[in-house]
Amino acid sequence: LIGAGLLEEVAACLACRRAGSPAAVVTDPVVGAFYRDRLMAALAKGAPGLRVAWIEVPAGEGAKRLSELERLYHQFAGVPLDRRSVVVAFGGGVVGDLAGFAAATYLRGIDLIQVPTTLLAQVDASVGGKTGIDLPEGKNLVGAFHQPRRVIADLETLQTLPAAQLRAGLAEVIKYGVIADPSLLDILEAQREPILAGEPAALEELVVRSCRIKAEVVAGDERETGRRAILNFGHTIGHALEAATGYGEYLHGEAVAIGMVAAARLSCRLAGLPAGEARRLEELMRAYGLPSAPRKPVAPERLLEAARRDKKARAGDVHFVLANRLGEVDLYPVPERVIRDTLETLNG
Ligand SMILES: NC(=O)c1ccc[n+]([C@@H]2O[C@H](COP(=O)([O-])OP(=O)(O)OC[C@H]3O[C@@H](n4cnc5c(N)ncnc54)[C@H](O)[C@@H]3O)[C@@H](O)[C@H]2O)c1
Ligand SMILES: [Zn+2]
Repeated sequence: LIGAGLLEEVAACLACRRAGSPAAVVTDPVVGAFYRDRLMAALAKGAPGLRVAWIEVPAGEGAKRLSELERLYHQFAGVPLDRRSVVVAFGGGVVGDLAGFAAATYLRGIDLIQVPTTLLAQVDASVGGKTGIDLPEGKNLVGAFHQPRRVIADLETLQTLPAAQLRAGLAEVIKYGVIADPSLLDILEAQREPILAGEPAALEELVVRSCRIKAEVVAGDERETGRRAILNFGHTIGHALEAATGYGEYLHGEAVAIGMVAAARLSCRLAGLPAGEARRLEELMRAYGLPSAPRKPVAPERLLEAARRDKKARAGDVHFVLANRLGEVDLYPVPERVIRDTLETLNG
């Protein structure tokens, strides 16, 4: 469900099937401060008599760790949640991944509803069923596929999202434009101001089309043995940049924006993408205040090393999702020499 003012739907969704069993809303203190009263009022009205435990985990990527997962399990047991209980993941991708993994594993799996409140979570993280946590050894190393029963994206919640977070989410929307639906790029070009202002009416079409693409791709390849990899356009270098800079220097979407610029340049060299289309992408990044090059130069060798270690890389050449033209991509093995050249061009 995608629309403005949908928190009431969460209540309707819980009311219709959970008689007797308590539910848990997992969120973070930032989202809680903005929306707790609204959601709890909606639940009291729409699901009277339902017992709801409100559980907060720390805000930010640091919450996706074993100790926080363990704390969640204890809180679930304290309620206690049972097999017919529902976990509502109410927040950004961090809350979705952590609460989703807790729901995937508690009592060997209980129902999950994703209620994403960041643009990134609405267009990406809440759809597709991947859940998990990080280890000190790497991001997302422990997890499970656990499809949510429902995803409810209330566009109004995006109005409190910091501008940088909104832009980072738009990087993923640009990605969908490249891999499947160039009309997204037309909308981004035509509606810059209302989109950057977070206006629900302007964002709706972007979220709907993005979710449709993600859902289609995932439905065809849930466990990522093939086609799902196209969702990683811009992510090989993006992930490498995040890892090489110790996470925290770039928002994920910013790193992906830079990765998409690199992937577009590689696409021109190896996949026949017209130079004008690569330029169009770089223009779009600029228009949305997304970086198209690292803020401080990063040695190509460090990025290459991180790309080789990426769990999604295959043996031998590093594989890239490259665009033959905007809207059509394929997987290409890319020789390291060519990657190094392209990374040099990023440092100016
Ligand atoms: N499971 C998947 O398929 C998938 C896909 C992409 C990303 N992810 C994961 O998602 C995470 C990133 O998600 P994210 O970008 O949403 O970050 P996030 O969850 O950390 O949220 C970003 C910040 O925005 C705040 N926030 C959330 N909603 C808000 C709102 N409506 N108003 C104001 N502030 C709000 C949060 O408290 C946080 O400080 C990463 O851990 C990544 O691995 C998962
Ligand atoms: Zn991403």
